[in-house]
Amino acid sequence: VRVYVPLDTSARAVGADAVAQAISAEAQRRGQPVVVVRNGSRGMFWLEPLVEVQTPAGRIAYGPVAAEDVAGLFDAGFLAGAAHRLRQGRVEDIAYFRDQERLCFARIGTIDPLDLDDYRAHGGWQGLEQALAMSSGAIVQAVLDSGLRGRGGAAFPAGIKWKTVLGAEAGQKYIVCNADEGDSGTFSDRMIFEGDPYRLVEGMAIAGLAVGATQGYVYLRSEYPLAFALFREAIDRARAAGWIGADIRGSGRAFELDVRLGAGAYVCGEETALLESLEGKRGQVRFKPPLPALKGLFGRPTVINNVITLASVPDILVHGATWYRDYGVGRSRGTLPLQLGGNIRRGGLVEKAFGLTLRELLYDYGGGTASGRPIRAVQVGGPLGAYLPESQFDTPIDYEAFAAIGAMLGHGGIVVFDDRVDMAEQARFAMEFCAIESCGKCTPCRIGSTRGAEVVAKIQAARDVEGNTALLRSLCDTMLNGSLCALGGLTPYPVLSALNHFPEDFQPRQRAQV
Ligand code: NAI
Ligand code: SF4
Repeated sequence: VRVYVPLDTSARAVGADAVAQAISAEAQRRGQPVVVVRNGSRGMFWLEPLVEVQTPAGRIAYGPVAAEDVAGLFDAGFLAGAAHRLRQGRVEDIAYFRDQERLCFARIGTIDPLDLDDYRAHGGWQGLEQALAMSSGAIVQAVLDSGLRGRGGAAFPAGIKWKTVLGAEAGQKYIVCNADEGDSGTFSDRMIFEGDPYRLVEGMAIAGLAVGATQGYVYLRSEYPLAFALFREAIDRARAAGWIGADIRGSGRAFELDVRLGAGAYVCGEETALLESLEGKRGQVRFKPPLPALKGLFGRPTVINNVITLASVPDILVHGATWYRDYGVGRSRGTLPLQLGGNIRRGGLVEKAFGLTLRELLYDYGGGTASGRPIRAVQVGGPLGAYLPESQFDTPIDYEAFAAIGAMLGHGGIVVFDDRVDMAEQARFAMEFCAIESCGKCTPCRIGSTRGAEVVAKIQAARDVEGNTALLRSLCDTMLNGSLCALGGLTPYPVLSALNHFPEDFQPRQRAQV
């Protein structure tokens, strides 16, 4: 009997390793033949560790399982999928999972992440095989036609970026994967590394073939040690099997891949600071232009894309641009892996086509707050994203719809707060975060963020609230329009949204009542 216990960091954080060991030990004690497979997480974190048993009726899930539950599960006959208080039924029938549109995450949880045969058996490498039979221009055209936009946050059309790099003359070009997933409440990149790493290898190799780049680098945040270890192993195994390297599957085409660790600076997720860091220098933002597409890593034309962007490419080649384009709304095509975190009952990963509303996500999937109190504010798009009040929960998940309300989708991270949140404190925190993470290159961000945190603190202390609020707005205007990169340039989003939607929290009398 095959029993699946996730190796994903979020499952391990709540005891998955102990559960896996307990299952192996108990099986041995009872003389029952059990193979424990460590899979990726299905992204239903409130059920982790989620143990799955392979039965003739499909995979039956039990969760959240603690090591102490294991003997009881054996007694109940869970190896045959029998009833137990932790039994959740077939994975595909759990509403949270069933109602998703999993493209990029289709394999995660199903396969053994590093098993090349499993990957192949579930459609792996088909996109790369297609790409090997296509011209560079045709691959770029397919990505263009799919409507895929950068999933790191800026939503720039991936095909246009690739076309720029394809058209650039150079002896050496690079593919760089931005895996410095620094936004609060985000983990979708990590889940790819831990649950389906060959998907990223495949996507990057395809990108290399598309633009004529023979070397790729993944810039991974150091806070993801498991992702680092797994991905290094995945690279070695893919190379040994001929899917990357000097001669991909006898095609005469080459693509080498390596992974580098960051050192923990948020600004190194900004593409030019990332390139500096990758070159071994201090992670400081470069002026643009020149664009990295023309002058990127070591001054050469470089495609820099987020993990999810690159991981979405294999499916586009296998199923076609139109198939991908058919998901989504307006100019937001395909799916977005949304990440629900903070004060939420059912936190986890929801991959859906663009177009569902924030309210559906928060209540139908998330089930409201974990505390049971009303949701008061939701921050979408990381620490530089706007805070949305209840009146904006019907906004569809769509880049343009979010931009229209002065918000952004970013990398799809959603952090939920209940009615006990102090929005003035959140505004002060945004400024403080920017002050700590600023690379120091430009004045509005370097000095503005420190002054901003001070001004919010004065408002909190009820010192000249009107005058200091006007000063704060003026400072936000300077940072918005005068910062060199998005760190200083977007910090006003959380600050102004807090001020505009929750003004009562900035008033001394009301604050006293909270
Ligand atoms: P941007 O709008 O300047 O650029 C987007 C991308 O398109 C860049 O790669 C740029 O080089 C490229 N590009 C622009 N014009 C091009 C052209 N004509 N040809 C080829 N390439 C072109 O945005 P930026 O500053 O790179 O990113 C800002 C976003 O980053 C924010 O919206 C935010 O959501 C996101 N972000 C994500 C984080 C994460 O953890 N994933 C953390 C912080 C911010
Ligand atoms: Fe550096 Fe901040 Fe200026 Fe960006 S906005 S370049 S992080 S100082």
